Amino acid sequence: MDAHLRELLDLVIRWVHVIAGIMWIGNSLLFNWLDRNLVKLADRDARHEGEIWLLHSGGFYQVEKKQLPPGQMPAMLHWFKWQNFTTWASGISLLVVVYYMGGGALLADPSVTTLHPHAQIGVGVGTIVGAWVVYDGLFRSPLAKIEWLASLLGLGLLFGLAYGLTHVMSGRAAFLHVGVVIGTLMTGNVWMVIVPSQRELVAATTEGREQDKRIGMRAKARSIHNNYFTFPLLFIMVSNHFPSTFGAKLPWAVLALILFVGAGVRHLMNIRFHTKGWFPPLVGLCVAGLAGLFALTRREGPKAPSGPPVSFAEAQAIVQQRCVPCHSQHPTDDVWKAPPSGVVLDAPAQMKLLASRIRERAVVTRSMPLGNKTNMTDDERDRLARWVAAGAPIE
Ligand code: HEC
Repeated sequence: MDAHLRELLDLVIRWVHVIAGIMWIGNSLLFNWLDRNLVKLADRDARHEGEIWLLHSGGFYQVEKKQLPPGQMPAMLHWFKWQNFTTWASGISLLVVVYYMGGGALLADPSVTTLHPHAQIGVGVGTIVGAWVVYDGLFRSPLAKIEWLASLLGLGLLFGLAYGLTHVMSGRAAFLHVGVVIGTLMTGNVWMVIVPSQRELVAATTEGREQDKRIGMRAKARSIHNNYFTFPLLFIMVSNHFPSTFGAKLPWAVLALILFVGAGVRHLMNIRFHTKGWFPPLVGLCVAGLAGLFALTRREGPKAPSGPPVSFAEAQAIVQQRCVPCHSQHPTDDVWKAPPSGVVLDAPAQMKLLASRIRERAVVTRSMPLGNKTNMTDDERDRLARWVAAGAPIE
């Protein structure tokens, strides 16, 4: 596909993805908050589950949660299921446009694997589908009755997945696949468990039957899983723009840390309405998480590169050969037809301005050239480091 068209597709789908995601996650957080803050009123019948008053945009809202008496379906009922579907469908489309099209340029990382892009795509798709089958099976099995054990097992499997994926594709693609897996589990929960249970609830009420409480309980359990997934998922999506995360020495450890801290923070925020002393552990977890993130994503560049300083002419020759095929006003690369991230390295002044980023990407994280497509050597990385260390002279 034409590179310009692909970029536009990327942009438009991403736009939809972010809007739908805000609506879905925002709703999910709001309803979770509601559930935890409802006040049960003494003067109501057994179907009453709680009430709350809210203030928003120029008016008061009175919300009551209750089970309806059989046969009393309101004429108009709002469900929230398309926000989730739109988020997931646009997310999968983005995965295809950004990672699977264009020859799998973002999947490749010769320092990790020599797997063919088609095989990587196979692994990616297989993982996404397989993860749902395993997760759903686990939480339908008798094991699910021992909640802590099933959750621990599920988390362990997710860690294993993170570890495995970082060994068959670039760190960046592996991060995104873990994110897509989590998003798919959440969407599966909505469409395979929560929506069917709501359908049953509506059908029972319409037909004048009493509702089977167990169905609702199973839906609630999956809804809580989704709640714990939200923070790690959002971190993973944002992390794709931060090479120090997926370019870390142990990218799977960064993922494991984020899964643990993200879900932990969500947990403390959930229990805060009914639990005293939730704040100090929250601060503790955030500080420990940040310290862990700092330690895991910090990369010691080759310290004070040894050898004589490198002249501008020499550095420019390297950049021209290894970077400019993509990072130019007029790239010659077969996939990137406009300078990626707007980074242009044609002119000396641009090289000087971007010297620290050149060092970060080509020397420290070694995440450029992308997939080492232009075959940059270690010696060339070392020489670029020496040019930057000498103050990035441009004459
Ligand atoms: C095959 C194409 C390709 C080549 C060759 C390439 N890059 Fe990139 N570069 C990209 C893409 C795609 C992005 C945007 C995605 C990203 O940031 O990972 C990017 C982004 C960047 C960024 C901006 C993001 C940031 O971290 O500030 C810098 C700087 C960069 N590259 C430096 C380099 C350097 C230095 C070289 C040569 C050693 C190089 N690139 C070679 C494709 C390429």
